Amino acid sequence: MISISASILNGDLAHLAETAETVRKAGADMLHYDVMDGCFVDNLSFGIPVLESLRPCTLMPIDVHLMIERPLHYAERFVRAGADLLSFHIESRSDAAETVREIQSLGIAAGIAVSPETPVETVYPLLPLLRPEDFILLMTVRPGLGGQAFMPEVLPKIEALRAKLRAEDQPLHIEVDGGINAVTGAQCRKAGADYLVAGSYLLRADDPAAAVASLR
Ligand code: DX5
Ligand code: ZN
Repeated sequence: MISISASILNGDLAHLAETAETVRKAGADMLHYDVMDGCFVDNLSFGIPVLESLRPCTLMPIDVHLMIERPLHYAERFVRAGADLLSFHIESRSDAAETVREIQSLGIAAGIAVSPETPVETVYPLLPLLRPEDFILLMTVRPGLGGQAFMPEVLPKIEALRAKLRAEDQPLHIEVDGGINAVTGAQCRKAGADYLVAGSYLLRADDPAAAVASLR
């Protein structure tokens, strides 16, 4: 089943609760919450206190995407603040296996995010650690900014990962993030993705419900 995770990064940050309500009413399944530390990526977004404030405003699962240097150091605080899914980058400074185990031990879904230039095979040794509720996030833009153009060269990575998971008979979600709209979303689904993150496509739509429906 396809899940649509609405990225609020490019919304009106003074009215996050309203944005969350808009995308919920439009039919999105999750909220995608992008955390940037100014080190792992050259941008700063929002962190733990904003997540704590947003948490009581919505019943939607919050899909937190950490684009930070030390995810292992902060994982527990993001879970306490209300994350339901927590992804971190394999390119970060934290040990990936340890970070997966930490997130799992905190009782939520763990995601391993992979930047466009990182070969997908890098995550293969970690697959045995992952449970059916966990996921691999394949970035379809360079992390750091919303509103960028989709990178079609990531499609073969999605296909390769889905083929590998099928061969190993491992049910696992593949999330794609960046430049997702009706056209690129369909390409990613065909390649094997089942979690679609969409930010500007939903937030700029005149009819957000039609935009969510077009992704489904
Ligand atoms: C990029 C973020 C994405 C971004 C998606 O660094 O991880 O989640 O907000 O936004 P759009 O859909 O506008 O590319
Ligand atoms: Zn993201």
